[in-house]
Amino acid sequence: METVLSGIRPTGNLHLGNYFGALRNFIDMQNQHNCYFFIADYHSLTTHPTPKDLHGNVRQILVEYLAAGLDPEKSTLYIQSDVPEVVELYLFLNMNAYVGELERCTSFKDKIRQNPQNINAGLLTYPTLMAADILIHRATKVPVGKDQEQHLEMARTFGNRFNRMYGHDYFPEPQAYNFGKELVKIPGLNGSGKMGKSEGEGNAIYLADEPETIRKKVMKAVTDSGPTEAGQKKPEAIENLFQLMKVVSAPETLKHFETLYDNCQIRYGDMKKQLAEDMIAFTTPFRERIKEIAADEAYIAKAAAMGREKARASASQTIKDVREIIGFRAY
Ligand code: TRP
Repeated sequence: METVLSGIRPTGNLHLGNYFGALRNFIDMQNQHNCYFFIADYHSLTTHPTPKDLHGNVRQILVEYLAAGLDPEKSTLYIQSDVPEVVELYLFLNMNAYVGELERCTSFKDKIRQNPQNINAGLLTYPTLMAADILIHRATKVPVGKDQEQHLEMARTFGNRFNRMYGHDYFPEPQAYNFGKELVKIPGLNGSGKMGKSEGEGNAIYLADEPETIRKKVMKAVTDSGPTEAGQKKPEAIENLFQLMKVVSAPETLKHFETLYDNCQIRYGDMKKQLAEDMIAFTTPFRERIKEIAADEAYIAKAAAMGREKARASASQTIKDVREIIGFRAY
């Protein structure tokens, strides 16, 4: 059994891309491993130092993850700021983190390019905080996308450096976790790229979307004037619609529209209508559960408290050990 850990950025509602990407795999992992999933609200202050409705955003994410199937009994689902031990470890790691190596980090360089007005120390030390998140539970596996590989590498560097400097083999090396299930890339509805909220209004289908909203978005999806030759290769926007249909529709439905396409008899309007209805059928249980949980303050509070308790138990043990290893002694 591995100790798996992942941080979730508090950036808006869950869409189908999130679900078929990491989330579905998180749900599987809970049954096999000792899992820690947390909402990275401290991290959000690096780019939004004066956040609007921080609590509301964190709450919405918690609700949607619970609704999607993360189980607070099986895994430790917590809010980063509920575990102040993370901050203490962050301080210790920062003492041994070199400004040079932090400045060379690709994500830092991107951020200063995008926002030269707000190059704060929190942004520079983002990788140290992320390393603290991982090392605080002595996690061995971290499911990360390509964009987070460098951060994970830095977590290994900081953990190994700590072990070397204080002469203790304390932190295990966290490795990237490769999902057993194939990672399905979910395209957006605007004809190119992947589903995401930064790709423009209407590009993503959210688990909380109402049926009417889904119909509108799908009917507006980009298409073309249709195939003119039998067996013609599909352009990207059309391929995307088929890809979406593949994940939410029955195999026969997909086959039916594939055949129509290959025979040049496809009517995109019909295909979109079907796709919208299948998306509605797929998302409805999620939407209903999101509403149910969002209305149940006691359940949300209970779930958060369970996560906080379990996370703090593990984190405070690490801090106790780390203080001792460094040489602090309580009187
Ligand atoms: N940096 C991650 C992201 O942007 C979020 C994150 C914070 C994280 N701490 C983490 C991910 C620890 C994995 C482990 O997506």
